[in-house]
Amino acid sequence: MYQKELNALKRAGRFRQRKVWDKDLIDFASNDYLGLANNKTQLQKALNLLNEYDTHAPKASMLVNGYHEIHERFEQTLARLNGFEEGLIVGSGFLANLSLIEALIRKKDMLFIDEDYHASGMMTTGLLADRVIKFKHNDPQDLEDKLKNFRGVGRKIIAVEGVYSMSGALCRREIFEIADAYEALLIVDEAHSSGVVGEKLLGVFELYDIKPHERHIKMGTLGKAYGSYGAYILASSHIISFLLNRGKPIIYSTAPSVIDTALALVNIEYVAQNSHSLYKEIKQHQAIVKEYLNIKLHSLILPIIMTNNEMTLSYQKKLEAKGYLVGAIRQPTVEKPILRIIPRLGNVENQLKSMLYEIKI
Ligand SMILES: Cc1ncc(COP(=O)(O)O)c(C=O)c1O
Repeated sequence: MYQKELNALKRAGRFRQRKVWDKDLIDFASNDYLGLANNKTQLQKALNLLNEYDTHAPKASMLVNGYHEIHERFEQTLARLNGFEEGLIVGSGFLANLSLIEALIRKKDMLFIDEDYHASGMMTTGLLADRVIKFKHNDPQDLEDKLKNFRGVGRKIIAVEGVYSMSGALCRREIFEIADAYEALLIVDEAHSSGVVGEKLLGVFELYDIKPHERHIKMGTLGKAYGSYGAYILASSHIISFLLNRGKPIIYSTAPSVIDTALALVNIEYVAQNSHSLYKEIKQHQAIVKEYLNIKLHSLILPIIMTNNEMTLSYQKKLEAKGYLVGAIRQPTVEKPILRIIPRLGNVENQLKSMLYEIKI
């Protein structure tokens, strides 16, 4: 039924397939930035925590009786660590962006969104009709021009990422200042910055020493640095209360997985307790990339731009043959195809060096 479309994707080198990769490949592709995804001590801690409770499944929406004490503990821990009034656990980052953008931009409001924002946010803007303006990627001047020209009477809401998922670029600090100057709500998607940037690994708010206030909203995922699955939103109690009343994926969906929340909770506590040594390790991995490729990383995402989709796949294959797995990210996900390499802490320094040596030659 869709053969013509599938053939066209194949011809353009855009055909996607899922695959169980050889487990012996050294993983430089995943977002498991801190290497927690195979830490069995942490898994056991989560299972022990879960066993303290009679119920281990969410059973129903959070607004019926799916809200578990582990969800509550998770939300309170994360809000306290990040200096936000309240937290809200959500099923996934995709659903968190869908909830935020669909619920918060009301009639007469305007969303100002970075043109490179994640697909989950971009897709949701399709529900907003004319209540959305895209600004140039990470460009404070363009954002300010667009805010200045907005003549509407409604709220202004800005959406940016802390670290952009494909380029690894850090959100510019000026964007926080502009949001304040225009009294705009600021949504920061910290999927790739939480657990990676800032001395306590708390993300860009910490990195830029910005004390969260009532117009700040931070969201992040649990499927990356925090080695689990799910997501969270941190904001003022007022905004969280509004999302609980208007966020459709929050209201009309079974509460997030309790086991994944337990794992995220013990992992977040682990990161908080070990942030000093993890931070040093991240800096060391970034220094190795600088030494081998002369590229200064601000995150743990190393994009290598490729000429076309075919070349991207062939480089990925070449590295696979040497025992390394890297991401081959092609159009339309990115404008220019890239090898997306993650110098994650799950690999020791010598493995990183040998992989970078293969890239260099
Ligand atoms: C920036 C960003 N936001 C949101 C998401 C979606 O998060 P999740 O995988 O938890 O659905 C992703 C990718 O997974 C992402 O890279």
